[in-house]
Amino acid sequence: MANRTAVLIGLGSAVPDQIETNDMLAERMDTSDAWIHSRTGIKARRKVGKDTATSDLAVEAGARALKSAGVATVDAVVLATATPDYQCPATAPTVANRLGLGTVPAYDVGAVCSGFLYALLTAAGLIALGTAGRVLVIGAEAFTTIIDPMDRGTAPIFGDGAGAVVLEAGSPADQGALLGFDLGSDGDLAELIIVRAGGSRQRAAGTEPEPGDYFMDMQGKTVFANAVLRMEESSRKVLASTGWAVGEVDCLVGHQANARILRAVAEHLEIPAERAFINIEQLGNTAAASIPLALTDAHEAGVLQAGDRVLLTAFGAGATWGAVTLVWPALARS
Ligand code: UT7
Repeated sequence: MANRTAVLIGLGSAVPDQIETNDMLAERMDTSDAWIHSRTGIKARRKVGKDTATSDLAVEAGARALKSAGVATVDAVVLATATPDYQCPATAPTVANRLGLGTVPAYDVGAVCSGFLYALLTAAGLIALGTAGRVLVIGAEAFTTIIDPMDRGTAPIFGDGAGAVVLEAGSPADQGALLGFDLGSDGDLAELIIVRAGGSRQRAAGTEPEPGDYFMDMQGKTVFANAVLRMEESSRKVLASTGWAVGEVDCLVGHQANARILRAVAEHLEIPAERAFINIEQLGNTAAASIPLALTDAHEAGVLQAGDRVLLTAFGAGATWGAVTLVWPALARS
């Protein structure tokens, strides 16, 4: 097939039942609903209970995406996560197995909040090469498991969830076609968002980690500034390579890090605020899950219509960033 291109044919999401509101957070730390909402746009977030891990959310979202696509088989599973069930092995093989997908290749992609865009590119690459005809791409996080519940710099921001899409081989003219990719990283910024313990640098056995080292440390203000800069820059690059003018973007679906970041990116790009989809209020920042969760919510709400030109962009730990363009397909709503 000439110009063999990945085309989105289904999507789905899942969130844990447990809700933590800003008022609940304010009971245990020096913060308030007014502060959190005005600084981030967040009112509440979902949290996994003790019995739920990332793979549980991934399986639920993956099953919904397969159902939405009307398919029962894929040729590969790519899972974006920063909170795998275990440090070793990867979580994707478990997810593929539990979804009844057989012995297909299944692997994790680690690019934290940009993870879903990185996973989309690797899946699109498998399709373009002819290695796979259909791929399940999932972003899933039990992110609150690496958040210090008493840290007011991170506990109000992050939440748990999963979202998934099914990609299939098609052509660039198809609705659902992923048309452009721009990805980047800057390891000089690795310390901006970091979990110090548990890796090969600070080992589980050997150096005794400080208890807080198992939690994520984030320099919020610097992350904020870099996120706006990189998401704008990456968006401009992918729009140029796709051949779309900014004014032709029907919907900007950015990584839901902070409503102020998303509004700033839209403003810098001169995309009208009403074209920037924001669903952070009830979910918080769900890292690799946030873009597929936002796509599912925007689709279900009727914000995304078949034929819409969609721009995705993200920034996260690493630092990593990226942007993707696609044309929204005609999909049934559940
Ligand atoms: O997913 C990708 C990675 N993450 C992100 O993209 C997150 C990026 N960063 C952010 O979203 C924001 O930096 C935060 C929401 C984390 C923080 O917002 P900010 O506007 O940058 O606040 P700040 O850290 O500059 O703090 C401003 C003030 C400080 O008080 P003073 O020094 O002005 O008196 C803080 O101590 O707000 C205080 N503060 C709080 N007050 C109430 C900080 N956190 C809180 C809190 N509740 N939770």
